[in-house]
Amino acid sequence: MCGIVGYVGPRASQDILVSGLARLEYRGYDSAGIAVIDESGSLGMRKRAGKLSALREALAAEPIGAGTTGIGHTRWATHGGPTDENAHPHLADDDRLAVIHNGIIENFADLRRELAADGVTFRSETDTEVAAALLARAYRANGGDLVGAFRAVVHRLDGAFTLLATHEDHPGLVVGARRNSPLVIGLGEGENFLGSDVAAFVEHTRHALAIGQDEIVAITPDAVSVIDFDGNPVEPAPFEVSWDASAADKGGWSSFMAKEVSEEPEAVANTVRGRIRDGRIVIPELDGLDELFTGIERVVILACGTAYYSGLVGKYAIERWARIPVDVELAHEFRYRDPIVGASTLVVSISQSGETMDTLMAVKEAARLGAKTLSICNTQGATIPRESDAIVYTHAGPEVAVASTKAFVAQITALYLLALHVGRVREALSTDDAAEAVVQLEELPEKIQWILDNEQERIEQLAHWMADTRSVLFLGRHVGFPIALEGALKLKEISYIHAEGFAAGELKHGPIALIEPGQPVFVVVPSPRGNATMHAKVISNIEEIRARGARIIAIAEQGDTAVLPSADEMLRIPLASPLFEPILAVVPLHIFAMGLATAKGLDVDQPRNLAKSVTVE
Ligand code: F6R
Repeated sequence: MCGIVGYVGPRASQDILVSGLARLEYRGYDSAGIAVIDESGSLGMRKRAGKLSALREALAAEPIGAGTTGIGHTRWATHGGPTDENAHPHLADDDRLAVIHNGIIENFADLRRELAADGVTFRSETDTEVAAALLARAYRANGGDLVGAFRAVVHRLDGAFTLLATHEDHPGLVVGARRNSPLVIGLGEGENFLGSDVAAFVEHTRHALAIGQDEIVAITPDAVSVIDFDGNPVEPAPFEVSWDASAADKGGWSSFMAKEVSEEPEAVANTVRGRIRDGRIVIPELDGLDELFTGIERVVILACGTAYYSGLVGKYAIERWARIPVDVELAHEFRYRDPIVGASTLVVSISQSGETMDTLMAVKEAARLGAKTLSICNTQGATIPRESDAIVYTHAGPEVAVASTKAFVAQITALYLLALHVGRVREALSTDDAAEAVVQLEELPEKIQWILDNEQERIEQLAHWMADTRSVLFLGRHVGFPIALEGALKLKEISYIHAEGFAAGELKHGPIALIEPGQPVFVVVPSPRGNATMHAKVISNIEEIRARGARIIAIAEQGDTAVLPSADEMLRIPLASPLFEPILAVVPLHIFAMGLATAKGLDVDQPRNLAKSVTVE
């Protein structure tokens, strides 16, 4: 939540900050602002409620000047509504110090009272302005040392924060600090950058440094220095960003979501690439880490939202191929229920952003309890992988649309690779299963592409006809069940239509009461070749709801003629082994949600009330 960018260098910072914010806007888009200091030490600031376009208009009407040091912020509101006053930056020290913040300062009410008693007056309702006032006080007490002021203030703040500040006294300096909130450094030639993630600066440099937990960073055009909260020097870990700026552009597509759905084949292909050698799954990142998998008795998967649904699919694969019991838990539920995990548990976290606070805190809790931790993540340099014993990256490329699509298929792919790897290490995987899985994995991208080429138009047409629908249900069994949940979440999230996903077998235990004439129900139909009994059961479920007037939209494999008489609409997917069907069956559901939101004239990339990276609990 909230995107942060900082710049020092020879160039006018206004445009650099605004283009950085444009790439970070997926993190929050209810207000935006920048503060810039020119060489004479004069600070200019503009901020506006609304999307970045409102700030752009304000800057066009009244440019901020040619200052070469600056900070910028795009906000997802926590304390105080989305107004001009609550937008960041916040000023202090007679408007000579500008501060931006991502996170929540939990003790802000106490601090605000303390500062008010000290004579400070506030212009906003935010916790950030409290941090700005504290920094100003500490800055004066430290004789004008901004880093020293940060060191004094960070110890007073509870909760999560990335703070960035710049002061009129120090043109050419931006200072930042992070605790439980993301911040990375971009290294340029004679210029340096800070960002919530690398998207903030990837158009300028792909050389980056990761800032650890509880660290303070100071950047000038020629130097970067990092210390911990106690003032000890720290050597930040360097990494190279593997994608370039064009990967994070729309590239002619009507929306980022449309582009990202079209990239689902590539997301799977890139996640598999380099991990099959001589017909065997080999995950180079896990070389030498066999002991993570041999001594365990249980796997616990932790994630939120769409990533959680990928975990539900992954459970079937890990249990099948590695023969270890798997529990899948919502990360925010795990942490507060005194979980029973220890040295014989492998905790696998799944996160596209690698910054989801609920997941991060759950991983930390699991590590504290002695569990081994492995992160499946799409974002290099993110916090969750850095806090984990092992990492398996999904290589889906940058995902900008708030609704996760290509990352979801990549997450399932990575979980399958992991399941096959663990199955081999534990000698639980049969040669036949291993060989079949390799073939299936390699064929997936082409099969997803077939759906995009052959079914997308028809699905969009269907979505268009259904634009006035008020409620949609989704049913699935086995691996089709999490796909039903994902189909429902995607529809709610971007089209604001009531949608529910159910296990088909659960219908008769309650949800069937929802069925009334005309109720649209998507049904993920398993292959009759994979499991004839389950296929027959799902057809019976369809008949039960058809008899009560439901309108059935079946997602079934090509050539499944048994489902035809029961379906009002049939969306076809290519043939695959049962465990691989979910990666195909979800594609029509992503297209449908996007088509319906588009037909309703909604912004599919930035749905209301949401942000892509949920960095608050
Ligand atoms: C839904 C969606 C969210 C995320 C969830 C976890 O389309 O995108 O449900 O999946 O917020 O985010 P990450 O994967 O970044 O931890």
